[in-house]
Amino acid sequence: MIYYKTKAEIELARESCLLVSKTLTETAKLLKPGITTLSLDQFIGHFIRDHGAAPSFLNYHGYPFNSCISVNDVVVHGFPNENELKEGDIISIDIGVYKNGFHGDHAYTFAIGNPGAAIAQLIRVTKESLYKGIEKAVAGNRVGDISFAIQEHTEKKYGYGVVRELVGHGLGRSMHEDPQVANYGKRGSGIKLREGLILAIEPMINLGKREVYTEPDGWTVRTADHSVSVHFEHDVCVGKNRADILSDYTGIEEAERNNPALFSSD
Ligand code: MF3
Ligand code: CO
Repeated sequence: MIYYKTKAEIELARESCLLVSKTLTETAKLLKPGITTLSLDQFIGHFIRDHGAAPSFLNYHGYPFNSCISVNDVVVHGFPNENELKEGDIISIDIGVYKNGFHGDHAYTFAIGNPGAAIAQLIRVTKESLYKGIEKAVAGNRVGDISFAIQEHTEKKYGYGVVRELVGHGLGRSMHEDPQVANYGKRGSGIKLREGLILAIEPMINLGKREVYTEPDGWTVRTADHSVSVHFEHDVCVGKNRADILSDYTGIEEAERNNPALFSSD
């Protein structure tokens, strides 16, 4: 079912999305070698509840943590654990919050220390592809235009592996609403986009081949060739002439620049 949101609903959703951005910003300040991803998850749970919201992921289809923290060859849905982060780790943090009846759900990928040129490029290009997809989230376009733009910039231009099994989605009173937003597809295909449609657009891009598998825990998704995978996700509302990005990377990027333990491309 596709739900088009009213102006008032969009403002409520924006509040949830911005709380995710704020949580990611505060989490970025904590990132350094030696910290465990489980301690990050505990911080995330407390921060969300301290701001009058609930972590959307906890207990979602039985998911057992507040956040998904996916390191190196883990694509998405990584379980926070007792492993310490180390120099060279690539860490995607995906957070959802539920507040005032609406979910926010977005993600950012960080590098601990210098990841080297190849992975730095993968991070940069995956983020660029997200914005190329967002540019297409305009009324009158089709959902496939978003998918095509992401695939063009990542697979066609750089030869990266675009994950097929996981996709972006509509977002609102439920965390996953229609339509699905694949990161690959044909221009001009799929439903027509209308104002008020909120989408979570989330390229998941592998340095190597596109194939992935799920671990026996039922959640952790890894690249089949164990190459590094990068994940960026924004929540956007389809607009008449341009998309309205409800989430905000500004604070996260500032924290990334100011944290000496993190690699920052700018
Ligand atoms: N960003 C992920 C998604 O859109 C979050 C779901 S993880 C789960 O699917 F733990 F909640 F399942
Ligand atoms: Co999502």
